[in-house]
Amino acid sequence: MRRPYIAGNWKMNLDRASAIALATEVASQTTGIEGVDVALCPPSVYLDAVGSAISGSQVVMGAQNMYHQPEGAFTGELSAAMLLDVGCRCVILGHSERRHEIGESNEDVNKKVLAALAAGLEPIVCVGELLAEREAGTTGEVIRNQFDGSLAGVTAEQMSQITLAYEPVWAIGTGKVASPEQAEEVHLDLRKLMEDRYNSEVAQAVRIQYGGSVKPSNAAELLAKPNIDGCLIGGASLKADLFVPVIRAAAE
Ligand code: 13P
Repeated sequence: MRRPYIAGNWKMNLDRASAIALATEVASQTTGIEGVDVALCPPSVYLDAVGSAISGSQVVMGAQNMYHQPEGAFTGELSAAMLLDVGCRCVILGHSERRHEIGESNEDVNKKVLAALAAGLEPIVCVGELLAEREAGTTGEVIRNQFDGSLAGVTAEQMSQITLAYEPVWAIGTGKVASPEQAEEVHLDLRKLMEDRYNSEVAQAVRIQYGGSVKPSNAAELLAKPNIDGCLIGGASLKADLFVPVIRAAAE
């Protein structure tokens, strides 16, 4: 049985005071909710402050990105070791906004995944198709290419440290959620891919989050699907009264 995993991706939102306030609220409102893992991924400049705010709670912290090099002359970048140092447990890699807005390739994502794993940071690796790709019937192929490209060289043992996130690009921030059936179909494909590329133990153990317009009103039916093990939440993670009910739904 995979333990549900709900992560909030705050993206480039909030200021320092509201980040601290939100983290404090999430930490206190999740006290006593059992059977679910919870992560908050604030903007990097607020990691330290958010780390203090959630200290002693069951909430862990993640970053939204990192660079693959361990140190050196890479202006503006952050290493896995730095993120660990400031209290991160995990890091979102290959988010569609980085793939499509910033131009990250599968190769870039792959280098980051390998560097995160080597440092002991747990990657949340995102995959997802564009609307045009879904309409062209190429969703399966896109997901397969992103999986193989982003995870090249990852061993079966390392794979168990990874969480996958299926985020159809057309459902992100649009209010247009994938139907539970559409999401489940891709999650099942991902599970079969892990079985094929690794083994059934890995395929059964790795958690796959769904992301794209998740909110309290649609979370339960998504989470009811056998291969949807959690959610990666953008907009609704910016308000405790929207985020915490999703955590509760996952715990039930
Ligand atoms: P929304 O929940 O705002 O659609 O964002 C999803 C997402 O991109 C999480 O990483």
